[in-house]
Amino acid sequence: MPVNCSEVSDTSILVNQIIDEIGNTRADLIPILQRISNECGYISDTAINEIARRTKLQPSKIYAVATFYRMLMTKPHGRHIVQFCESAPCHVAGGMQLFQALKDFLKIEPGQTSPDKRWTFLTTSCLAVCGIGPVVLVDSDTYGNVTPDQLINIFSQYE
Ligand code: FES
Repeated sequence: MPVNCSEVSDTSILVNQIIDEIGNTRADLIPILQRISNECGYISDTAINEIARRTKLQPSKIYAVATFYRMLMTKPHGRHIVQFCESAPCHVAGGMQLFQALKDFLKIEPGQTSPDKRWTFLTTSCLAVCGIGPVVLVDSDTYGNVTPDQLINIFSQYE
């Protein structure tokens, strides 16, 4: 039966299975968080509290690790994650206009998920591909030299 990560009991069972497989030391924390993020889509407060109980780490420490790494999500998110690079080289290469176009197209602000759960919109710092700025990342796909009129073609590839 699939795990329902919005259920406290299912989340606790899943966390315990993962920790039984991986281990419960401080060094195991990131792999544990990655597995939970992959399987549930995000790391809930319930999951953090259960990890804390098993690893004897403070929940606040676990939360700090979970929020430090961008690949780990601590909130439910949409089917696709759109990240916009807001660092200066992309900004001067047309990023400001693109940022506005992204907000208009997605109809959400950074940090939000669209009501149909299709998109979560995030800003990010430099993605280390400044030469092709402005840059947008959709899930793990990088798009460079993006102009506002390309957005419809880019986003139409994602259901
Ligand atoms: S500044 Fe945007 S990728 Fe580096």
